[in-house]
Amino acid sequence: MLNYGAEVLASLITEDWQQRSSAWLSLLDDCLLAAGGLEGTAPESGKTLVRKHSAKPYKYDPVPRRDERFPDPYNMGVNAEVFLYDPQFLPQPKTLMMFYKRLREIDVPEMMASIIAETPNKPWDYYRDMTRQLWDEARHAMMGEVGFAQLGIDWSKHVMVNFTWALCLNTQLKPIERHAVLYFIEQGLMPRNGKRFEWEVGQQSGNSLSALFQDYDWADEVLHARVGRDWYLKEFTDARKAVQYGDECWSKVLMNWETWRKEGKTQHRNWWPELYREACRHWGIQPDPQVLGYSTTYETVRADLKEVTGSG
Ligand SMILES: [Fe+2]
Ligand SMILES: [Fe+2]
Ligand SMILES: [Fe+2]
Repeated sequence: MLNYGAEVLASLITEDWQQRSSAWLSLLDDCLLAAGGLEGTAPESGKTLVRKHSAKPYKYDPVPRRDERFPDPYNMGVNAEVFLYDPQFLPQPKTLMMFYKRLREIDVPEMMASIIAETPNKPWDYYRDMTRQLWDEARHAMMGEVGFAQLGIDWSKHVMVNFTWALCLNTQLKPIERHAVLYFIEQGLMPRNGKRFEWEVGQQSGNSLSALFQDYDWADEVLHARVGRDWYLKEFTDARKAVQYGDECWSKVLMNWETWRKEGKTQHRNWWPELYREACRHWGIQPDPQVLGYSTTYETVRADLKEVTGSG
């Protein structure tokens, strides 16, 4: 890693760039010295620092932005949970829904970033724990991406990864309300029907990568439940009220399924059959008509496990 880093630096940083940025580079050095070094163990320099890029305070923009790999970000046309928990379907096609669910987790870092950015004056440990969790969620999304790559599927063409959850939470709820929703959803993942179920489906599917990813996904959620206990639950005297508050906050979020369709933001196109066909080509099997015909949307069912398991 060190060699790689050195080579990257050598090819990116020219003499000319170094000269032009010398004031900025010495400011960075001064910042480090003022902080007592990277890990804060040296004496602090006490030197006065003059802000450069941060002179104008940063303003957080809560609206998620995605690149061209996300051509239909309002699409809520394929309900992954209803398919995943339907016993008539086999584990193999369910791995596709789980890869999709993992990839869609890119909306969790988008949402958590807003909590972190808009919650000032917490202890350092709060930001460390929340950032660790944010990174885990980003990694879950990458696992989904790798899952599709393994099947030779170009997900940017066949999987419409929406940002509606992050968008609605970021623009409709206060930071503590968003944290409440996150806590409520993650508590719901812990019973038998949540992460364990997904891991079992991965095990039964014969796709060892799916099983491995679900193992990581489950383990991380156990840690996230603890982060929630440490930093969200503490705000309440009654644990039940904390969960209930999360449920209430989630319930008041308006997912404008029909409005988005009317406004032409999306047609909620059912992209599932096409994805499934692609996967069947890779697996070398004939598509199962029952699976091919799946067409349940998110119009009436919200994307946590509440309706599916009743375990809230
Ligand atoms: Fe997650
Ligand atoms: Fe996850
Ligand atoms: Fe999580």
